[in-house]
Amino acid sequence: MRMTRWLSRASPVAILVLLLGGCEFKAPRSTLDPLGPVARDQFELFMWTFWLSIPVLILVLGVMFYAIFRFRDRPANKSAIPNQIHGSVPLEITWTLIPVIIVILIAVPTVRTVFETETTVEPTADDLIVNVRGYQWWWRFEYPELGIVTANELNIPKDRRVILTLNSADVLHSFWAPQFAGKRDLIPGQDNQLWFIAEQTGVFRGHCAELCLTAHAYMRFRTVVHEEADFDAWVAAFQEEGEQQVQADPLVQRGRGLFATKGCATCHTVAGYYPDVEIGDPDFPNLTNFGLRNTVAAGVLENTPENLAAWLANPQAVKPGNYMPTLWSEDDPNRDEEIAALVAYLLSLGVDDATQATTGPTSVGGGSDGNR
Ligand code: CUA
Repeated sequence: MRMTRWLSRASPVAILVLLLGGCEFKAPRSTLDPLGPVARDQFELFMWTFWLSIPVLILVLGVMFYAIFRFRDRPANKSAIPNQIHGSVPLEITWTLIPVIIVILIAVPTVRTVFETETTVEPTADDLIVNVRGYQWWWRFEYPELGIVTANELNIPKDRRVILTLNSADVLHSFWAPQFAGKRDLIPGQDNQLWFIAEQTGVFRGHCAELCLTAHAYMRFRTVVHEEADFDAWVAAFQEEGEQQVQADPLVQRGRGLFATKGCATCHTVAGYYPDVEIGDPDFPNLTNFGLRNTVAAGVLENTPENLAAWLANPQAVKPGNYMPTLWSEDDPNRDEEIAALVAYLLSLGVDDATQATTGPTSVGGGSDGNR
């Protein structure tokens, strides 16, 4: 009996400790680890509001606990009616004024931060412009000035303003790269803008922050921040794509054939697959230079041969609800061999001696910063 009582008292503490144990400033996708001016302004506003609320919390809890213990019901005065006090003018003025001051202290910096970080900006020649389109459940990133279309990994240079124009092909999504800026909705038929500057190179996690049905939890992306020279190399890898990138390895060649015969090319574009012939559908992930990607299935798996093979073998097991068909039956005797060939082909895309050595964080497995 005593044990149960002790447990019931200890369990809220245990739960609190467990919950607090999950807190981490440097966790992946943490807004508490800002790596650019927009996110930092928003973080500082949050911290200002947080510290402002601490004295309020202490004062309110202090008064509450004082009242609970000081004026608790005692057997001695069971029948007594408490003193009736109301209509104290100084008290009324005090507790009206204090909240007004608190609201002003929060509102002024909030409005200032909103105007500094949320205002629509006019692009200048120095900015990088990216059109972002949300799909169930992946991201299309188009660089209109560079002629690049890619998916699920936003490659940007460090210290340069990036201006995103966001919309959606189907339902509401929300673009969220927590270390760089707050969330912004992607809405069908409407262009929204979001801009930010990244001050640190590396591979950083992002996520769709609007419930968009089945695979919402798997609608992830990566922001890959490069040094300017590495970004130029990444761009160059896209602008020189074409037949010259198909490696001579027979397995790669076999995979390239299967890419057409198994039907991949119906949906997926690989630029330069056939000279002068477009393949794929713009409303499906563009796989040009897929070998440079860090992840598979919109940020769900690291882009390794094993993970890519698992994804091709059974997309629904990796990411339930997605629209990728399963191309092989369980008992297909060619399955493993064909998947191995497709994996070899896909991972070869964009990977040749020139690009492999210079693209920095895009190399498979991430840079020294890892995935944050
Ligand atoms: Cu897209 Cu949630």
